[in-house]
Amino acid sequence: MTIPISKTHLNQRVIIVGGGVIGLGIGWQLAKAGCTVSIYERNQAGRAASWAAAGMLAPHAEVHFEERELLNMGVQSCRMYPEWVAELETDSRMNVGYRAEGTLIVGVDRDDARELEHLYESQKLLDLKVEWITGREAREMEPLLSPKITAAIWSKDDHQVDNRAMVEALIRAYQNADGILHEDTSVGKIEIVDGKAKGIWVKDNLEEADVIVLAAGCWSNDIDGLPEAVQPPVRPVKGQMLALQMEEGIVLEKVIRAPRAKYPTDVYLVPKDDGRLVIGATSEEMGFDTRLTAGGLFELLRGTWEAVPGIYDLPVIETWAGLRPGSRDNAPILGETGVENLIMATGHYRNGILLTPITAREIAALILTGETSENIAHFQLSRF
Ligand code: FAD
Ligand code: GLY
Repeated sequence: MTIPISKTHLNQRVIIVGGGVIGLGIGWQLAKAGCTVSIYERNQAGRAASWAAAGMLAPHAEVHFEERELLNMGVQSCRMYPEWVAELETDSRMNVGYRAEGTLIVGVDRDDARELEHLYESQKLLDLKVEWITGREAREMEPLLSPKITAAIWSKDDHQVDNRAMVEALIRAYQNADGILHEDTSVGKIEIVDGKAKGIWVKDNLEEADVIVLAAGCWSNDIDGLPEAVQPPVRPVKGQMLALQMEEGIVLEKVIRAPRAKYPTDVYLVPKDDGRLVIGATSEEMGFDTRLTAGGLFELLRGTWEAVPGIYDLPVIETWAGLRPGSRDNAPILGETGVENLIMATGHYRNGILLTPITAREIAALILTGETSENIAHFQLSRF
């Protein structure tokens, strides 16, 4: 995408706080456009929520009625993905494991099938391209599905990417465009003088810039210097995950989602090119706790096994938990903030991987042109 750059906005010095997919994506686009960009990341770039995610690009499957603007944004971002991936793979010379085999949402038992019917009705009212199919039809598409499954929704436009590969590619593409990455460097404070953001404090040093972008995920309101009205209402929402190693004869192709009516945790299974079967996820309001629990992993394994019994003998190769950055209304917080030169890009909650292309391009466009597009106007901090 070519952004019409205003002359007054050329060659800006931009500081981005946070090196997850959101910070890296914005940084890459801006560095390519000629800005001098520095990303400050307090640990290793991309190793927080962006690493923990499953990489589903699922605007249709995770749809909620009351979130029409968010749905539209997700659909747009999902459509941007093929072009985004082509550009990223060219700039990074890496493969990011984008897969377009689609998603099956299955009803494991009768209660789940009833819940599926409600979801399907909502999806049809929203005019989404989804199809109701029988259990047999679902098994023709994915033979490993349990014989107990009686119905499914086929969502061919819900795709996936290898989010960890995307993180690595974004770092490389950003650095290839002369973006500067400071890892193991925590930002303590944003310096605001007379309603204008001037820079950031790293230890005792003030690093100045023309624009500061706050993209620190669920830690975005944990940085000093922001007036109360400008602190983004974000919180951590814990998700426990695990990965199995797929073996010959037990290889899934599509993303499988199994909403569970009777149990605390819906599950999803996301097969990756490298043979991992990524399984998630719990959704827990536990603050910054990232411990794994017996119950959390049990629920994931139970749901997975009931949907795809053949996983029983597969080796467990990894378990982890990540923190989704959830805002008060669970939609992202994007754009201007009321403090001059301070831009926000946070609160992407369950959909940050899906929303990376649209966020990166729209926030870069805002910085390069000074104009807020219709796509993000609805998601500004001022809505709270
Ligand atoms: P993060 O990746 O968390 O990055 C923020 C960065 O800021 C961190 O690296 C942190 O160290 C840094 N930071 C914080 N404070 C400071 C500071 N003071 N100074 C410097 N650096 C700082 N989304 C999807 O679209 N599809 C999925 O399938 C999906 N699955 C998910 C599964 C799980 C279990 C989880 C947890 C999330 C999932 N998500 C998914 C959501 C997605 O991962 C997030 O919305 C997205 O990664 C948010 O990106 P981010 O860059 O804002 O945050
Ligand atoms: N979008 C999947 C998750 O957040 O668990």
